[in-house]
Amino acid sequence: MKTILQTRRLVLREMAMTDLEFVAEQLADPDVMRYWPRPHTREEAEAWVRRQQERYARDGFGYWLALDGATRHPIGQVGLLAHEVDGRAEVDLGWIIHRPFWRLGYATEGGAACRDLAFRTLDVPRVIALVRPENVPSQGVARKLGMRPVSRTVFAGLDHWVFEQTREDALL
Ligand SMILES: CC(C)(COP(=O)(O)OP(=O)(O)OC[C@H]1O[C@@H](n2cnc3c(N)ncnc32)[C@H](O)[C@@H]1OP(=O)(O)O)[C@@H](O)C(=O)NCCC(=O)NCCS
Repeated sequence: MKTILQTRRLVLREMAMTDLEFVAEQLADPDVMRYWPRPHTREEAEAWVRRQQERYARDGFGYWLALDGATRHPIGQVGLLAHEVDGRAEVDLGWIIHRPFWRLGYATEGGAACRDLAFRTLDVPRVIALVRPENVPSQGVARKLGMRPVSRTVFAGLDHWVFEQTREDALL
């Protein structure tokens, strides 16, 4: 399985169907999925993993599995997502940390590494984060990364803030 990034505490690698146990448990958790319409069934989690594999093949990135670098236990998913938002191709930062590992700085650590990777390897003027207005924890991650809310949009049928960080802002 392809390793993408290493940070101080995390390893990010491509996920495989052998990770389904963890992914299904995470996506079935009502706290983790609070800002989605509902938690995912095992079949939906399987489709989720398949969708990430399609993204890796098509875009070169997607949600990656985030593991504790020391124990190699998965703690969540962090990655880059190719999304069309208001008619524009965007690179969206995504973070979903499993409930037992919240508030340890993992989303910020993984998100910062993904943002830096995007600016290093992709010819994009900005990265964005799509965050539901109710999702205060995720807005905290975006702000901690230095992102700013710049517009509102309807994405996947739901109202979202568009947070952005431009290439120039990231280099400051
Ligand atoms: C949002 C989420 C990814 C945050 O992950 P995390 O690893 O706990 O976040 P961090 O520890 O890096 O927190 C960074 C900052 O975000 C804010 N924050 C995180 N969790 C918060 C909470 N429960 N309440 C208020 N602010 C919160 C804080 O400002 C925090 O900085 P601080 O700890 O120095 O005060 C996690 O809660 C999660 O996976 N939620 C469910 C899935 C989800 O909503 N994903 C995002 C979809 S857009």
